[in-house]
Amino acid sequence: MTWTLFLLLGLSLAQTTFGWTYHFSRKSMNWTQARKWCLTNFTDMVVFQSQEENDYVVSKLPNRKGSPYYWIGITKSHKNETWTWIGNNSTWIGENSWAPNEPNNNHSTEFCVEIYVNTGPNRGKWNDEKCGNKKYAVCYKAQCTAAACERGRCQETIENTTCLCDPGFTGDRCETAVACPPLSQPDNSDLSCSGGNQVFNTTCRFKCHPGYLMIGLSAVTCGLTGFWSGPRPACSSYRRALLAVAGSGAVSILGCICFCWMKRRKRKKVAQVRSVLKCWSKAAPPVHTPCHIFSM
Ligand SMILES: *[C@@H]1O[C@H](CO)[C@@H](O)[C@H](O)[C@H]1NC(C)=O
Ligand SMILES: *[C@@H]1O[C@H](CO)[C@@H](O)[C@H](O)[C@H]1NC(C)=O
Ligand SMILES: *[C@@H]1O[C@H](CO)[C@@H](O)[C@H](O)[C@H]1NC(C)=O
Ligand SMILES: *[C@@H]1O[C@H](CO)[C@@H](O)[C@H](O)[C@H]1NC(C)=O
Ligand SMILES: *[C@@H]1O[C@H](CO)[C@@H](O)[C@H](O)[C@H]1NC(C)=O
Ligand SMILES: *[C@@H]1O[C@H](CO)[C@@H](O)[C@H](O)[C@H]1NC(C)=O
Ligand SMILES: *[C@@H]1O[C@H](CO)[C@@H](O)[C@H](O)[C@H]1NC(C)=O
Ligand SMILES: *[C@@H]1O[C@H](CO)[C@@H](O)[C@H](O)[C@H]1NC(C)=O
Repeated sequence: MTWTLFLLLGLSLAQTTFGWTYHFSRKSMNWTQARKWCLTNFTDMVVFQSQEENDYVVSKLPNRKGSPYYWIGITKSHKNETWTWIGNNSTWIGENSWAPNEPNNNHSTEFCVEIYVNTGPNRGKWNDEKCGNKKYAVCYKAQCTAAACERGRCQETIENTTCLCDPGFTGDRCETAVACPPLSQPDNSDLSCSGGNQVFNTTCRFKCHPGYLMIGLSAVTCGLTGFWSGPRPACSSYRRALLAVAGSGAVSILGCICFCWMKRRKRKKVAQVRSVLKCWSKAAPPVHTPCHIFSM
């Protein structure tokens, strides 16, 4: 991680190439002014969502010997409300964020929070304060922009920005559509693909040359995971297609004959059993009753 510190019109800027950058004011101001200063010059007042972020920012800020310390972006608007972070209404409060005996609401109007950045035991701890008091502003600047990820969402942490790609896209900036294996042109056909490439969301259409018959689907689409929606079709000459049809026709006819023959045999058996039963029931007790079993 390379940090460069430079001055710009009286502001100290701490800049990283990846992830949020943090910035502080050299002048103290009340909370409302501090937030305005952050919104005007950067993204917003600093927001912590973990102890790690809290400690990281503290490590980047110059120590103060005593008050004023730095404003952070968590407030409430009246006594009974929960502490809420600006921006997304998160209510994250770490296990040991508050300094001992804080928040104490000493003035019953202490609805803003300062962070101690000193060398003492309370370094990095929070204290509730009156919003009208003057402290230094700590702001962050987001590195994620609308254009950072072409087909995905930009996710930012303290030292890192990452593009989380939409399904079907890949690459550092989600700029590449997932490719399907190249389709070769079937014999005796024309192949045309929408957009020219064979990537996610492309549909390729096949057209058999005159005199040829398509066997299979005439179009396939490249799916999210880089697979075609179906197999490549084949183009068969009508003569071969007819032979194939005739062949399969012959098979079906044979099959039918076989089936009918089996069925007939079964029927015959049933008839035999029936006639035996008939003879038995007619001539009870069945003593050598001659029964003529006829065949159909
Ligand atoms: C920062 O924001 C304040 C408004 O709060 C403005 O007066 C000041 O000029 C800004 N500074 C820069 C460097 O943009
Ligand atoms: C705050 O809560 C206390 C008791 O918990 C209640 O007596 C008081 O009316 C509440 N104040 C407001 C402004 O809601
Ligand atoms: C935060 O909460 C306030 C009031 O409850 C609401 O007006 C605002 O839209 C919320 N903001 C977000 C980002 O959810
Ligand atoms: C609130 O926003 C911060 C960045 O400003 C982000 O890190 C955090 O995850 C968000 N929290 C929620 C609950 O959305
Ligand atoms: C409350 O504030 C006063 C000054 O306004 C201060 O003297 C006192 O020590 C504070 N009490 C606590 C518990 O912080
Ligand atoms: C913060 O300062 C501005 C400008 O000086 C003032 O208008 C505002 O009332 C102050 N806010 C608080 C909460 O004291
Ligand atoms: C950045 O964050 C992503 C996801 O959170 C992670 O996969 C990646 O390894 C991180 N990169 C660095 C350089 O820390
Ligand atoms: C897929 O293509 C269609 C039109 O060809 C388009 O409307 C749709 O947004 C595309 N889907 C994706 C995820 O790119």
